Amino acid sequence: MKVGIDRLSFFIPNLYLDMTELAKRRGDDPAKYHIGIGQDQMAVNRVSEDIVTLGANAASKIVTDEDRELIDMVIVGTESGIDHSKASAVIIHHLLKVQPFARSFEVKEACYGGTAALHMAKEYVKNHPERKVLVIASDIARYGLASGGEVTQGVGAVAMMITKDPRILSLEDDNTFLTEDIYDFWRPNYSQFPVVDGPLSNSTYIESFQKVWNHHKDITGLTLEDYTALSFHIPYTKMGKKALQSVLDQADEETQARLLARYEESIHYSRRIGNLYTGSLYLGLISLLENSQALKAGDRLGLFSYGSGAVSEFFTGYLEKGYQEFLFTKEHQEMLDKRQAITVDQYEEIFNETLPQKGEQAEYSSTVPFSIYKVENDIRYYKQY
Ligand code: COA
Repeated sequence: MKVGIDRLSFFIPNLYLDMTELAKRRGDDPAKYHIGIGQDQMAVNRVSEDIVTLGANAASKIVTDEDRELIDMVIVGTESGIDHSKASAVIIHHLLKVQPFARSFEVKEACYGGTAALHMAKEYVKNHPERKVLVIASDIARYGLASGGEVTQGVGAVAMMITKDPRILSLEDDNTFLTEDIYDFWRPNYSQFPVVDGPLSNSTYIESFQKVWNHHKDITGLTLEDYTALSFHIPYTKMGKKALQSVLDQADEETQARLLARYEESIHYSRRIGNLYTGSLYLGLISLLENSQALKAGDRLGLFSYGSGAVSEFFTGYLEKGYQEFLFTKEHQEMLDKRQAITVDQYEEIFNETLPQKGEQAEYSSTVPFSIYKVENDIRYYKQY
């Protein structure tokens, strides 16, 4: 039985900052941001948007009335949790009106959480083929104003419906994974921002990819020639390319050119959004599917997921016939194009805004579909505008 991604969609806030403006303000050469790091724009969220609203907005595009009755699990992969105890998935389950006899919970392991959720969903649907699982990867990637990682920040969520006989991507059962206890990026409980060893995270990302890729090759016998495209976790768009380049000498020239061309198609959206942490790999997959004219049904795709700390995984899937019809290409491109550019001053002001704490109250108005409209007694209240 085939199981995999039946629908997938992303959501981002309607504000963005141009990286040339940020580079100038920070006294850096804009070429470092655009070429060296590979980021052109950064998505910026208002304080009334959190991982719940982002996730609900991404999922509302793919959840139908029929789905609401068939979803048995809502799983959110995130590393920007809004509560140490209660899972955002419980609130999203409510906002989306999913039938009550469902499981809802969060999964955490840095940027890998969405992948853990996806494969948990796949295993569940294999055992319960008539049921569906909603997987959401939602994050607000923040490193701090004027920090080393600031240029890679981003905001957004990806939602995926996992079913039998999927209409977009069937997942194979050939995953290889790796766990190594290291400190390249982590966020202590007291801290709003992560502690990051940039060079260690870069080198561990590449080495992890090589390990899971080579292990996968040994187990399955599949080589680079067998893939139409490889999709990577994209903390910034140069990162995945470095990992890809590190194994390209295993392939003939035609394969090298093909994989590099497909990689460029997979980073269109990330260049304009930034890092989505748990959602980045899947934003890259959406970008590839929606921007490539070279893909066709039956093509094998390889996906590399990396979460600092560190857990990584390589897995594969096949494109289904007619998958293009089930994408949201036009809607996604309009969402990107209709955003409003903000100045660095506006960005810094929005960045420093916080929700009320210790029981204080505040109210918000919004034009974003699902938003926070009130905070009271330490509860965030959400509604659909
Ligand atoms: N024009 C073009 N390229 C330039 C440039 C210029 N004027 N100035 C610098 N660059 C290039 C550098 O050569 C380098 O390229 P390379 O990596 O191919 O050698 C790149 O821009 C980055 O420069 P670097 O000096 O290494 O940047 P940095 O010290 O600001 O650190 C990160 C970059 C990514 C480590 C930092 O942004 C970070 O910590 N990010 C968060 C962690 C992360 O995303 N990790 C990824 C794995 S999860």
